Amino acid sequence: MMERVEKWWRNAVGYQINLKSFFDSNNDGKGDLKGVIDKIPYIKNLGVDFVWLSPFYSSPDYDNGYDVSDFLSVGSDFGSMDDFNNLVEMLHENNIRIIIDLVLNHTSSQHEWFKESKKGEESKYYDYYFWENPKNGGGPPNNWESFFGGSVWTFDEKLEKYYFHSFSKYQPDLNWNNEAVRHEIRNIIDWWVEKGVDGFRIDAATHLKKEDWEYDNSENKWGAFTNVPGLNNYLDELKIAYGKHNLYIVGEAGGINVNEAKYWMEEKEYFNSIFDLDHIYKIGIPGFEKGDISRLKSSLVEWQEKLNDSMSHGIYLENHDTPRSISIFGDETPQCAKALATLLIGLSGTCFVYQGEEIGMTNYNFTKNSELLTEDSKNKYSSLLSRNIPEPVALKIAGRWARDHSRTTMQWDNSINGGFSKTHCLPLLTNSNYQSINVTSQITDKSSILNYYRFLIQLRHEEEILHEGKFVNLDKYSQDIFFFSRETEEGAILFLINLRNFEVSYTPFKEFFLSKYEVISPDTNKVDFTNRRITIDPYEIIILKTNFKND
Ligand code: NOJ
Repeated sequence: MMERVEKWWRNAVGYQINLKSFFDSNNDGKGDLKGVIDKIPYIKNLGVDFVWLSPFYSSPDYDNGYDVSDFLSVGSDFGSMDDFNNLVEMLHENNIRIIIDLVLNHTSSQHEWFKESKKGEESKYYDYYFWENPKNGGGPPNNWESFFGGSVWTFDEKLEKYYFHSFSKYQPDLNWNNEAVRHEIRNIIDWWVEKGVDGFRIDAATHLKKEDWEYDNSENKWGAFTNVPGLNNYLDELKIAYGKHNLYIVGEAGGINVNEAKYWMEEKEYFNSIFDLDHIYKIGIPGFEKGDISRLKSSLVEWQEKLNDSMSHGIYLENHDTPRSISIFGDETPQCAKALATLLIGLSGTCFVYQGEEIGMTNYNFTKNSELLTEDSKNKYSSLLSRNIPEPVALKIAGRWARDHSRTTMQWDNSINGGFSKTHCLPLLTNSNYQSINVTSQITDKSSILNYYRFLIQLRHEEEILHEGKFVNLDKYSQDIFFFSRETEEGAILFLINLRNFEVSYTPFKEFFLSKYEVISPDTNKVDFTNRRITIDPYEIIILKTNFKND
């Protein structure tokens, strides 16, 4: 076990691994734990401080493993408990920490607790879930909609009752009102802490508490199970459960605002970091959506400024639920990937690189509906067809902003399946551009996206200013560029990034005396602030450093 150093996560860089699509060591078509072990040298070379491993538990896999059928196990497709123990040990030997996903809001419908619960009120597990009688002659208890589309209620023929699920029908929600459930959760936490993990990512943390079934959700569709009063009582209990181990806890907190996040992180200390969903915002008509750069900026700036004191906000541009960032925020060029990387790693907080982001992996081009593999995309596609939308249009709409894009296999080299697996019948998708976008081709190319990530991560580690420096927004008006600094009493590092594929010219609100700055971005060959007017090329990046003692 690695020493539980105080606040090691502050300003650390994490690498998120979606196990199923990372590396398949036994060529059965699915990524596995041994595959991660094989790639430790790569992860180490990237320079990250820790990995976040997506669910690896036993699961029927209706939702990428977020439908857990046994919390204390390793799914046989992923390997064995010995593999997990070895992975933790070997990561630690390499000075890399590991956090794992904890899915506490729901279980799989195949979990023993749910199977037992279905036996009826006499079962000890009946109250582990939410069961309700039909209403109005057989209908569901209310009209709430689930995150994956359709009702939150599914009828069980045998029990003649409905059960509640915020996500798919294969993921019944746990009843946190029940102390026995909370007791089980505490056991699960202790079990994995014993195994030496360094922290957890808490899935769906804002949804653990539900409103009364009579709640009227017409004003806020998700209000019935998002940050519902009383949730804090559960989070208080969780805090006690992890608190005794000095773990890093990052909460997925969809639907909360920055003031609530501040309260949760700084006052209540429920989480060390929070993943908010505010900055990944789409605009445009269905089928042609893009990420909203202005919102990206305003949201990131607001969260950075308000969370400046904790300095460990969870920063990400991609994860297993988002499309690829260079496809939605940019034009898929390497320069655009580098501009986004600079933003990600320059900001203050604990930042997360998602597998493949570091080589500029792009969205997938769906050509048939059978390529949509996630529950929500499939549901969206069927619901469009049921509204008489023609198939190609439905595919375009359902596939445009789908999380399926981030689930394609990691592109390691230009061999079959991009080097992910040698199998000829892959159950996952590989993007056809693996021939040109892959790890092997970028490792030796000094100007590759991958090597630029390595440069940025190293910079973050080596520059004291990037450990302690507060975020200062240096531009309040531009919708196109990010101009911010990280500052301590000693000095500042300035980041000027054009996030557009056109040249941008603008006047900063104050004058910068360039003679006092050292250029540290590797590809910058000109810095022209003539007459206070700055002109920067498409996706240009300028990183400058100054020492206040020279003033
Ligand atoms: C959030 C996870 O990130 C997502 O992938 C999953 O589908 C839901 N929670 C349900 O667990």
